[in-house]
Amino acid sequence: MKTFISTPIYYVNDIPHIGHAYTTLIGDMLKKYHQLLGDEVFFLTGTDEHGQKIEQSARTRGKTPKEYADTISLAFKNLWDSFGIDYDYFIRTTDDFHCHSVQVAFQKMYEKGDIYKGEYEGHYCVSCESFFTETQVIDGKCPDCGKDTTILREESYFFALSKYQEKLLAWYAACPDCILPAHKKNEVVRFVENGLNDLSITRTSFEWGIKLPASFNESKHVMYVWLDALLNYVSALGYGGDGERMDFWKQPIHIVGKDILRFHAVYWPAFLMSLGLDLPKHIYTHGWWTRDGKKMSKSIGNVIDPKEVAKAYGVEILRYFLMREVPFGQDGDFSEKALILRVNSDLSNDLGNLLNRLIGMSEKYFGGKISSANTPKYFQAELEALHTILAKLPLLMEQMQLSRYLEELWRAFVLANGAITKYEPWNLIKNNKHEECEAFLGLIANILGKASLCLYPIMPVSATKIADCLKIKISHQDYKHLVLDRALLKDFTIEKIDALFPKIDGFRLEVAPQPQAEPDKIPSKTPAPPKITPPIDTSETIEISDFTKLDIRIGTIMTACKIPKSDKLLKLQIDLGEGRYRQIVSGIAKYYAPEDLIGSQVCVLANLKPAKLMGEMSEGMILASKDEKGLSLLRATEVKSNGSKVS
Ligand code: ME8
Ligand code: MG
Repeated sequence: MKTFISTPIYYVNDIPHIGHAYTTLIGDMLKKYHQLLGDEVFFLTGTDEHGQKIEQSARTRGKTPKEYADTISLAFKNLWDSFGIDYDYFIRTTDDFHCHSVQVAFQKMYEKGDIYKGEYEGHYCVSCESFFTETQVIDGKCPDCGKDTTILREESYFFALSKYQEKLLAWYAACPDCILPAHKKNEVVRFVENGLNDLSITRTSFEWGIKLPASFNESKHVMYVWLDALLNYVSALGYGGDGERMDFWKQPIHIVGKDILRFHAVYWPAFLMSLGLDLPKHIYTHGWWTRDGKKMSKSIGNVIDPKEVAKAYGVEILRYFLMREVPFGQDGDFSEKALILRVNSDLSNDLGNLLNRLIGMSEKYFGGKISSANTPKYFQAELEALHTILAKLPLLMEQMQLSRYLEELWRAFVLANGAITKYEPWNLIKNNKHEECEAFLGLIANILGKASLCLYPIMPVSATKIADCLKIKISHQDYKHLVLDRALLKDFTIEKIDALFPKIDGFRLEVAPQPQAEPDKIPSKTPAPPKITPPIDTSETIEISDFTKLDIRIGTIMTACKIPKSDKLLKLQIDLGEGRYRQIVSGIAKYYAPEDLIGSQVCVLANLKPAKLMGEMSEGMILASKDEKGLSLLRATEVKSNGSKVS
């Protein structure tokens, strides 16, 4: 099967940061996963180089837009090369073939009757390169980024977007997974249901853009940068030119950040319908990376440079951390401390040590030569548990529940480590149970081998090392054989390798300068202390031992739905790291939409006696605070492991 995967093409007005790296690493990960499935993949990334914003940025630096674009585009390309990103093509929208392709598309939409000439009057945000109506702007500011908008009044060609409203709604309804996660799709559906205005697709007040086809004889007009940019996905395949790679354009997959979902989920499919091209299979939409809870920006100086992280910890660890730490679709805070914890607990303890133990024991007891021939005889239950875990992974990947994918995969290592404690292979040897001990090491080798194939898309280098050491090939054949068809490794020799993930004992990144308080936010004088309140009435105080009776823990909401016939209650499944989900019924339906809760973390009173509410079992209570402004769930300021205790 041919599969097309894209990242957004990044603007050349900013150097690459951790957010760009996140999207691109996920694209690379997805390519590798599809290759395991046996697909032939075309993975596209590149840079978006036209438009008013780039023209302005170049001018302030005293460069021509093209000179400026050349430098930054190269910085992106070099970064991806140094990260080993396996893109098939790096497109630049200043490439001649791209400009030609956009003109062909423009002509085609015009002939279809979807483009007409008129006058645009309204607001424009240069930073987002986006049009807004009077009712959409907030005090003249962009509703998306908060920057000032300008008022435009200029002659313009329009794309008849309003014609596509019903067709888009029909598409969303027919393809449940076209936009993931689901709550993001709901936002898009609501946006389109509210009505679509036709879209201005040419500009006349600046020059840095693709000209209209010559037949229009319109030298003043340049294409709207988003029309130009979105078309990169097909121009790279030869649309309007040699067309050679257009056979990859079947149910394409896009990865985007939430900031540009509207462009991809509304405008882009409408353009595709106009051109008679296939619509996306999935638009995977991820959240926003922040630093210490704040948006990253050069002026605050809190931007995380992916090169620095890679230099300090390696690309493999960066990949694992970004994909494991935050549920795909949620915003996440980048914290070095959290990264170190992940390395030390997940990678070093759970995985690295396991491999070391396998290597050590097989060497010591069997000279490194192992056979799994007798593994089913002794460890059928463990093998079944392993295959049940692995069978859950494809759906999680298809749904882009990446952190859940890794969490599930890690259950395989937990299974292996637990089995070592339970069966004590050193005692099997001592008691002369050689056959059973070899079968046991065969079990561990199978767990690690199969897991390495599943880990490969996320950590290609480390997974390949594990596979090499177990004489497995990272290939579609081995993936199919060992993971999908559940075959076992045959007789093999385990190769000795160095520890994969040595523990990390301290911070390695340069500490970014602490953001200065913005001058207008500094209070003019220290606020007066609150009036002294009467001493606390000690008859109402409790002992610390009373408090410790409360078992409050952090958990992640995995599913949420309304309870029929109740307008107050939601039914939640919460992961408290217990190996099963807790069902909790909570009276928050008036304050939270179920889809907005999925993936977020909450505090749970975990040792509350279970009770039935509206016929549903509730095994705990989630904590919230309410005042006149409404109700808010209590959360930790950073993502915590599920099951972490609140004290
Ligand atoms: O929007 N957290 O380009 P762009 C997570 N040229 N992801 C982030 C991020 C952050 N803090 N910051 C950026 C454009 N990204 C257009 C796209 S596509 C036809 C044209 C990632 O340079 C994320 O993927 O502003 C986001 O969607 C993208 O960079 C925006 O990059
Ligand atoms: Mg942007």
